[in-house]
Amino acid sequence: MVLKHNHLAERANRAAEENQAAVNEDPYRLSFHIQPPSGLLNDPNGLVYFKGQYHVFYQWNPYETNHGAKYWAHMASPDLVNWEELPIALTPSEPYEKNGCYSGSAIVNDGRLYLFYTGNVKNEAGERETYQCMAVSEDGIHFEKKGPVINLPEEYTAHFRDPKVWKKEDKWYMVLGAQTLEKKGAAVLFSSRDLENWKHIGKIAGSGMNGLGDFGYMWECPDLFPLDGKEILLISPQGLKPEGFQYQNLFQSGYFIGQLDEKKESFAHGAFAELDRGFDFYAPQTMHDHKGRRILFAWMGMTDEQEPYQPTVSYHWIHALTLPRELHVKGGKLIQTPVEELRALRRNEMKKEVRIEAEKATLSDAACVRAEILLEDIRLDGNSLTISLREHAFLKFNVTEGTLQVERPDFKDGQPETRSCLLEKLEKLHLFLDTSSAEIFVNGGEEVFTLRYFPSPENEAISFEADGGASFHLRKWELGT
Ligand code: FRU
Repeated sequence: MVLKHNHLAERANRAAEENQAAVNEDPYRLSFHIQPPSGLLNDPNGLVYFKGQYHVFYQWNPYETNHGAKYWAHMASPDLVNWEELPIALTPSEPYEKNGCYSGSAIVNDGRLYLFYTGNVKNEAGERETYQCMAVSEDGIHFEKKGPVINLPEEYTAHFRDPKVWKKEDKWYMVLGAQTLEKKGAAVLFSSRDLENWKHIGKIAGSGMNGLGDFGYMWECPDLFPLDGKEILLISPQGLKPEGFQYQNLFQSGYFIGQLDEKKESFAHGAFAELDRGFDFYAPQTMHDHKGRRILFAWMGMTDEQEPYQPTVSYHWIHALTLPRELHVKGGKLIQTPVEELRALRRNEMKKEVRIEAEKATLSDAACVRAEILLEDIRLDGNSLTISLREHAFLKFNVTEGTLQVERPDFKDGQPETRSCLLEKLEKLHLFLDTSSAEIFVNGGEEVFTLRYFPSPENEAISFEADGGASFHLRKWELGT
């Protein structure tokens, strides 16, 4: 039903046009992140390199800043820096997806681009139905829907979604996020020879499996890929309780390092580790590019009770994707670093040796609003180093506690809230600041903190304070395309 698709796409484009003036007025609009023209963005979908371009799709509600029937918006870039908006790829035009074309992935086969996604349906009785669907494109712009290729197996509830597909040797595999009938989160594996007929292999990991205790009631957005001689399962589990500094957000995103045995239906793995320590990070997905890199994007947001209070809502838009990050395994951990292409955004380098004594050191030019800041060779003489981001968010390293903490005001009531991680030594910090976001890479990507924050637009100062003194090499660039 191409007609229905065209009608929905036109309606969505009209809504975006109508909201454009309001969106453009927003002082918190980002400048080098993927963000929706209006409405709500959530998960990154269908990350793929196809015919000379990186393609990034995202979950999009064009009409409102809440979670309705999702579309797949479409962006493409030759270099991961300059993005072009392409026509809407998927709209919920068919009965098997009428309440949303939910998350999924992309692969290239025989020169064609294939999308796999979840058709979300609320039936007349108000019950959820789920269909794993396929769409194909010759040009990477227009997609022909082939309909459902997988129906719900009887072992799971209708919380069964987010197909991620890859090829190993001569077979295709798909991992899905699922909830078992006992209400346990799980990752489920399928295989196929032709992309159309899929065999249910079984659960490969989940709550109560592989030595895991109770580990959530639903696992969303799985991804499974080889990296540096290991295999990684990314997962976004729901229902974990906070434990010390861990699992502080409403929902988590993290990874297991392990080994997939397709025949034995198993993924033997080690402990779960969170990918990001900040407030706003969920549903990450990766792609393998033509340069052999494993690149991750995530949703720089979260569905929690603060979501409707983000100030951009009154300008008719909400959320963005993170910057692209390259992944590696080092010392049993996933390391994340911003892709090197982002250097093309650098303008006006400033370089200096900073020595903080009793006074704080302040950088207070407009260039701090959209900036990349690199602190290297950090030496602390006393017990702490605090970096104030436009007097609104604060990053604090405490030597005796061995902790790194970020603080910002809660969007709902303005009270300070924090996220922390253990960190023995602070050697290097790499910050990417956009108008209302911060991505903070610690010690070369050993830890990352991602957050949105909404400082007063006039406040442009970044300052450093250290009890007992500190020194570091500082480099700073203004960022802009
Ligand atoms: C994760 C998620 C996915 C789902 C999509 C719907 O944020 O809930 O599981 O496919 O969002 O937009």
